Amino acid sequence: MEGVTDHIYRNIHHRHFPGIDKYYTPFISVYPSFTLKNREKRGVMKENNRDIPLVPQFLVNEPKKFLYGVKLMQDYGWSEVNLNLGCPSGTVVSKGRGAGFLADPEKLDAFFAAFFEEVPADMKISVKTRLGMENVDEFGPLLEIFNRYPIHELTIHPRLRTDYYKGPLHMDVFQTALRESRNPVCYNGDICTPADMEMLDRKLMITPSAVMICRGLVTNPALVRELQGGEKLGRKELQAFSNELYDAYREEFEEKGLIFRMKELWGYMGASFSNCEKYLKGIRKAQTPADLRAAITNLFGACELREDR
Ligand SMILES: Cc1cc2nc3c(=O)[nH]c(=O)nc-3n(C[C@H](O)[C@H](O)[C@H](O)COP(=O)(O)O)c2cc1C
Repeated sequence: MEGVTDHIYRNIHHRHFPGIDKYYTPFISVYPSFTLKNREKRGVMKENNRDIPLVPQFLVNEPKKFLYGVKLMQDYGWSEVNLNLGCPSGTVVSKGRGAGFLADPEKLDAFFAAFFEEVPADMKISVKTRLGMENVDEFGPLLEIFNRYPIHELTIHPRLRTDYYKGPLHMDVFQTALRESRNPVCYNGDICTPADMEMLDRKLMITPSAVMICRGLVTNPALVRELQGGEKLGRKELQAFSNELYDAYREEFEEKGLIFRMKELWGYMGASFSNCEKYLKGIRKAQTPADLRAAITNLFGACELREDR
């Protein structure tokens, strides 16, 4: 998740809560000069992701830029690269990238044709998409395009760009995709508890090959363990996880960066607690690292994890 999960988060998460098959980087852009931001480079370097099954994700709409990114990632030692066709943000969409690329199926088809002509044979290319920009009818022609290419995994977030992250999930369209996709399909959207997963199983007649989880995992970092029948998230392990993140971000960032990052994470993790609004407000209002650390300690001292998670 752009601005939320980086290699520091990934490493600490992987150590505290092992069992995830693949982590995706937040989207990476390629500059017109065919370079990446230094921060993004550091985020995908093997030495910063030891023992982590990582899939770098790119936000591009030119085949040459994607090829550049894929070859660079191959040099870095990765075997799969993902294309982002889902980002709904205005600045991204207005440049015809992310979900904005879905508005021009002909260009998308030409992009894939040129790209797959030249992609190294041993690199796996996966795609993350929404159903379209404004109307679910857009998805049929898009799926026809995806079906023409050897996409290693097609992750579908069954919302439109106009739905952003909140609108209804169009499960009927997702079900059609499961039936008609020639490529393996991964489901993504609103899985926050084992009950959500059971609901997904009941709703779908065919099982997707995989499930991608984003906000639910940041809210409850033990979610995948719970989905696999393991123990529920414990307060002590969440505290140890949060403390290690705090210490690592304190080393990585200036004060402002540390405070920003931890507040972003607590914006999600706070939802795992019950009756803790006063303490979460303390975290949101903290202006210094010391205040923030104290506010987090206060929360763990006073609040319980929600029973109904
Ligand atoms: C703050 C934020 C940042 C995100 N950044 C990315 C990103 O960099 N790449 C991506 O593919 N999706 C990104 N997403 C979308 C999520 O990956 C996911 O598709 C969406 O949140 C729905 O899944 P969920 O209900 O499991 O969160 C982001 C979502 C949020 C809320």
